Formats: sequence, C-alpha cells, structure tokens
Amino acid sequence: MNDLDTLRGELMTAIAAANDGDAIEAVRVDALGKKGRVTGLMKTLGAMDAEARKTFGQRLNQLKDEISAALDARKSALATAALDARLAAERTDVTLPVRPEIKGSIHPITQTIDEITAIMGAMGFTVAEGPDVEDDFHNFTALNFPPGHPAREMHDTFFLPTAPDGNRYLLRTHTSPVQIRTMMSAKPPIRVITPGRTYRCDYDMTHTPMFHQVEILVIDTESHMGHLKGCLQEFLRAFFGVDDLPLRFRPSFFPFTEPSAEVDIGCSRSGGELKLGNYGDWLEILGCGMVHPNVIKACGLDPDIYQGFAAGMGVERLAMLKYGIPDLRTFFESDLRWLRHYGFASLEIPSLTGGINP
Ligand code: DAH
Repeated sequence: MNDLDTLRGELMTAIAAANDGDAIEAVRVDALGKKGRVTGLMKTLGAMDAEARKTFGQRLNQLKDEISAALDARKSALATAALDARLAAERTDVTLPVRPEIKGSIHPITQTIDEITAIMGAMGFTVAEGPDVEDDFHNFTALNFPPGHPAREMHDTFFLPTAPDGNRYLLRTHTSPVQIRTMMSAKPPIRVITPGRTYRCDYDMTHTPMFHQVEILVIDTESHMGHLKGCLQEFLRAFFGVDDLPLRFRPSFFPFTEPSAEVDIGCSRSGGELKLGNYGDWLEILGCGMVHPNVIKACGLDPDIYQGFAAGMGVERLAMLKYGIPDLRTFFESDLRWLRHYGFASLEIPSLTGGINP
C-alpha cells in the first residue's frame, strides 16, 4: 500500500520538475508507457485473488488518473507560461505616434481594387481568388479557347518549362480562369469578383508584363443582358462618381461569352483634357457578355439550367482614368516621389458609407 503512495510522490515530484514537453513525455513513458511503472503494477493484478485485485486495481486506476491529470495540468501550465513570456517579449506599443519620415501610403492599384470591392460588395458580390500560375485547361480550354484557336495567340502568354507531370503551366493571361475555378467549386447562385495579377509578354506606354484585372461573374438561372447592363452601369457610375455617366455597348468577340460586348463610357477630350460624363465622345472601358454555354458545360453545370454574365476590366486603366495617371509603367517603378504623389492615406479604407472617391 505504502509503495503506491511512494510511487505517487515520486511521479508527482518528477512532473512538477519537468520543464518542457520532452521532460513531461519522459515522465509519462516512465509511469504509463508500455514498460512504465504503473503499467508494470497493472500486469501484476492477474496473479492476485479476486478481493485483492479489486482493491489494488481501484487504487491503481485512481493513481493512473491522478498521474494523467497532473501531466495534462503541467503541460498546459507550461504552454501558458510560454505564451505569457512571448507576449511580454513581443509587446509593441501601438500608441507610439507615426513618424512622418516613414509614413507609408496605399498604392493606387490597391486603392482601386478596394474601391471596386466596396461597390461590388454592397451589391452582394464576394471576392474569389485563384493562382497566378495556371494550367492550359483553366486559362484557355475551359474558357472555350479550343487548342489552336487564334484567340490564344493574342494573349502573348508566358509559358513555364514543361513540368514533370507533362503539363505546360503558364502565368495566367487574365483573371477569367477564376471564373472556371469558382464554377467548379461553388454551387450557383454565384456572384463573385476576382481581383488579381495577370501576365502578358508586352511592354510599352500602355502595357506592362504584369498588370491587374478584376472579373465580375454572375451565374444563376435567370440573369440576362439587362442585369449585366444595370450592374455595370451602377458600378461605373459609383466608381467614377458621375451620376449620369452614359454607357454604350458595342458588339465584340470573346470566346467565353456569347453575345459579347465592349463597353464605352461617355467623355469629352476637348482642350486635350479628359472629362468623364455625358459629353458626346466615348472611351472604351471593359469587356463583357453572357457566359458561353460551353464554359458552363466545361465546369460541370447544365447550360440548359444555368446562365449568367461576366465582365473583365483592367485595374491600371481604371486607376489611370480616375486619378489622372498618364503612364502605366510608372505604377511598378517603386519611385518614392510617385508613390507620395499618387498614394492614398493608409487609414482611409474605401466604403460606400465612408466614401469611394477620396
Ligand atoms: N479576359 C478578357 C481579357 O483579358 C477580359 C474579359 C472580357 C473578361 C469579357 C470577361 C468578359 O469576363 O466577359 O481580355
């Protein structure tokens, strides 16, 4: 009997002295492991008579429970102490004032994506994202660009070397593959926007090899061109802050939409200055259309049941127009003077209630 009390005392002392996870584990193995001391005593029960087995068995079980509980308690005490030590060591004084010389600002690309997200979020859209490195299926085939289709050539694609799995991965040339990923993983009704980086082998005043797009995708059973038009009108008027901004839809072609259209917004270029509004002149702003039945089919949905619309736009172009930035290439030169001039205050996050147009 006393032996058990002695054993308890020894084990409890060892647990109290254990100062890390390894030490706790060593005590556990010593007591409760396959060859542990408590386990060893359990094995002697079989040879006892019924009465002795009952009382000794009960005491042994109780000891086992006490040891387990003490091990757990020690483990969590050590974890709490470690966390407290870390919190104390990593404490940051957030009340320190911002030092003016290191004040950062929000890049116009981030600002523009935040503005688009705020407007579309208020219309019930969520944000979907996909990988920058895509495969041929998501970037082209599922979007109804059959192999060899001439529209593939227009994308100036950056291809990666053929991978060991035989795939020729590429840098996505547009954000449209996120449409495919969304339709293959979510159940309609779908309402998403997909901001992200895109890549094409091109470089001049109006092209950089990396740029940004935002895609709009709606899939349900009854959306039609009228909804597309209303949605884009609402978005463009809120984004540019021009209530009577006129829109013009011109027939166009994209493999993944049918019918397809390009959208122009009203402007004036008189006196060499660009003004947005109802002035009689037009400026192309984005591409859109009703999602092609082949795309819906490629995603495993039934095009006789589901339909919807999509639109795609260039973030840099929207930012240049809204904030009067003349050269696309300057976006990515990391020139501090440019960033200070065109950057936005970091705490003024766009929202419909707080304001989209700083
Ligand atoms: N993916 C097209 C491009 O990069 C843009 C686009 C046009 C996207 C029409 C769409 C759309 O979703 O409906 O050229």
